[in-house]
Amino acid sequence: MCGIIGVASKTNQALQMILQGLEKLEYRGYDSAGLAYVKENNIVITKTKGRIKDLEEKINKQDHASIGIGHTRWATHGEANEINAHPHQVGKITIVHNGIIENYQELKKKLESFGYSFRSSTDTEVACALLDYYYQQTKSVEKAIQVFMKEAIGSYAIGLLCQEEKETLYALKKDSPLILASSKDTNFMASDIPAILEYTNTYYLLDDYEYAVITQDQISFYNKEGEPLQKEEKHYDATKEASSKGSYPHYMIKEIMEQPDTIWKTMEPFVEDGLASLKKLPSLKKYDRIDIVACGTAWHAGLVGKYFLEEYASIPVDVCLASEYRYKRLFLSSRVLVIFISQSGETADTLAALKRVKQEEGDTLGIINVKDSSIARFVDRVIYTQAGCEIAVASTKAFTAQVAILILLALTAAYEKGTMKEKEVLTFLEELRHLKAKLTPLLSNREVYQKIAEELYQKEDIFYLGRGLDYDLMMEGALKLKEISYIPSVCYAAGELKHGTISLVKEATPIIASCTNPLLDPKTMSNLKETKARGAKIYLITNNEELAKDKDIDSVLLLEKTSEFLVPFLVIIPLQLLAYEIALLRKCDIDKPRNLAKAVTVE
Ligand code: G6P
Repeated sequence: MCGIIGVASKTNQALQMILQGLEKLEYRGYDSAGLAYVKENNIVITKTKGRIKDLEEKINKQDHASIGIGHTRWATHGEANEINAHPHQVGKITIVHNGIIENYQELKKKLESFGYSFRSSTDTEVACALLDYYYQQTKSVEKAIQVFMKEAIGSYAIGLLCQEEKETLYALKKDSPLILASSKDTNFMASDIPAILEYTNTYYLLDDYEYAVITQDQISFYNKEGEPLQKEEKHYDATKEASSKGSYPHYMIKEIMEQPDTIWKTMEPFVEDGLASLKKLPSLKKYDRIDIVACGTAWHAGLVGKYFLEEYASIPVDVCLASEYRYKRLFLSSRVLVIFISQSGETADTLAALKRVKQEEGDTLGIINVKDSSIARFVDRVIYTQAGCEIAVASTKAFTAQVAILILLALTAAYEKGTMKEKEVLTFLEELRHLKAKLTPLLSNREVYQKIAEELYQKEDIFYLGRGLDYDLMMEGALKLKEISYIPSVCYAAGELKHGTISLVKEATPIIASCTNPLLDPKTMSNLKETKARGAKIYLITNNEELAKDKDIDSVLLLEKTSEFLVPFLVIIPLQLLAYEIALLRKCDIDKPRNLAKAVTVE
């Protein structure tokens, strides 16, 4: 979750490069930050609780450096304060770390018996002491790294400076992402590509139990035995603008607005030439069951996928939270496909669930946004969503891109299995080709959401209700609101409300609901009227003109009538915008909500 960067430069601009990189990585964690750099004969460390801008203020403006490491933290062990912030220094070694050293208590006891003492509550300080211990024994950083890799259990991406080798930076990794990159005068290590996009878009990937030695002139790669490795240069298909806010005040609104393009970019290769392009998607014909595994918003995309795969392709689907799936009995066979959905491709629980399925020799497919991420590289087959860099912690454009792929998979499977006729599939494909034009008006209508936000932003709680596909979409809508506005929002299947939760409805409780399925809408409407009878205020999203006229509805957003395949996009965009406008009125830190982080690389 934390962001790390290291710089070895022929210039004396390393400090600026580290700070700039950390700003780009801040979405990974932002409760404290720090950096270490070489100044004359010393390693100078500056750290602070808070954000990168707080760190920037603390740094001595006269200082220049050509080598250093930086860190932006999402606390795991120990509260967010200056002592627990990285870098940590023990003896001759200074490190920044992303991940968790699981056996740190045991290692700590051992190191204490050798005379080490600890100031912070972090596992990272223990990792640092362990590296120092082996460095003192061997007088070689490389040897210390090799032994460390044998002894430390858990996950780590580490950037390391040694007091005795001030022109060299070391990077090592297991289970947490780490890339290396070179520009014309600088070599970098970083946890994520946006950190280096300003300087280059080519990079190298470090695999588990590998390390790199970085100087201003070169980067060398080694395996855990210290044998040199050749690495393939990778290219990241985006410019530095992709990771900037442009003229928008927040990344989130920029990313919401990008959706007509990102959804189209994701679908285009599979819809441009009708059935011929749809056939580029993997065949699902041989599978009797699909398990979809994901976390957070990606899990909600999975729920939407389940709806389409079951309704149109008649394939039973289980949608499982990765944190549960990784420990449950799996019932896999050659007729079960497990689909992993992840924006970052690094979510620890999703990755661990994938490793388990691979161990049990299950068939795997990934729907992933970040190219060459750990999950993308580990699945049997990957379909990349084309959402581009998603920086705001609350996911929007990655969600709609994931849904787009799942809908197309359902169409492919329905065609293959004969549950839909060719003509029907072609009609839906044609409709999807015109999606962009249908989304644009929804996005240009911000006053509508601003008006509702005015009514809702001071509420203590908000309910979201729906049935079937509407329920899945409402869950995502409620999550967006909770994440960025901190208003407790409960999402309920409309029919379940009176089995307990309706006791929370009182005078003026806001209920947001969507009705887009003629078979279920009358039922949902009855449930809404039950809340109305208890004083609730109802905000309805629907494509049914008759419902829109109902006198019990306080506010209506009437959507264009389309096939069900377009509904997820038409319903979720208003919910994203509403959450955004509410959070804006509440003056929340929209792109970096309290306690959250974008890529959750710890369990
Ligand atoms: C975190 C983020 C969510 C995201 C979830 C899964 O909780 O805050 O926005 O949906 O992780 O992330 P992934 O990268 O696997 O899609």
